[in-house]
Amino acid sequence: MAEVTLTIDGQTVTAPEGEKLLWAAEKAGIYIPHLCAHPDREPPFGGCRLCYVEVDGWSKPVTSCTEPVAEGMVVSTRSERVDRLVRSGFELLMSVHDLDCKVCPAKRDCGLRLVSRKTKVKLRSGTLPKLDRGLPIDESHPDIGMNPNRCILCGLCVWVCDEQVGAGVLSFAQRGLDTRLTTFDSEPLGAHDCPTDCMRCVDICPTGALYRKAPPTP
Ligand code: FES
Repeated sequence: MAEVTLTIDGQTVTAPEGEKLLWAAEKAGIYIPHLCAHPDREPPFGGCRLCYVEVDGWSKPVTSCTEPVAEGMVVSTRSERVDRLVRSGFELLMSVHDLDCKVCPAKRDCGLRLVSRKTKVKLRSGTLPKLDRGLPIDESHPDIGMNPNRCILCGLCVWVCDEQVGAGVLSFAQRGLDTRLTTFDSEPLGAHDCPTDCMRCVDICPTGALYRKAPPTP
């Protein structure tokens, strides 16, 4: 595949034609916040709205997970407009996320904490009121727990379960502010025949909404 050369934050980067800016930057060691993207997820979901960048000569910032590289492109991962968009996008995500870090299994692997650390946007800014969803936690599956109150609707688990594993167990229900993570038929997770030792939904979840249950004490 042909390669293109572009500039990201003053660094010369080469990338295969068609590759999205986010992955070209990541391979070059340049961090762009992102929570809903995966290199194999095509078309990109573009839901978390954290991966904005500026491109010289373009009138407004674009999401780097959806924008392919182009020859000669000059990209900035930081600007006043980008920082403002990332801050408001992150605050919006955090306004629906239950911040229970002390007991959350994601702990050090938490994608939200990584974004917060890298962008210096606090996990809880106080700008937006916390929406208390109070959704039921599903612990019916022998190995996997599901806490939709931690879910930020990145859709990675639904994508991996459906398109990568082919199991189609997970889904979203309802719309708008009421959208929540559930199973495709809204039955408890334990009622479904997940392929044994799959755990790909757990491994890909950036927020601890899907988690490994502790083994039962003997
Ligand atoms: S990573 Fe681009 S919108 Fe989520």
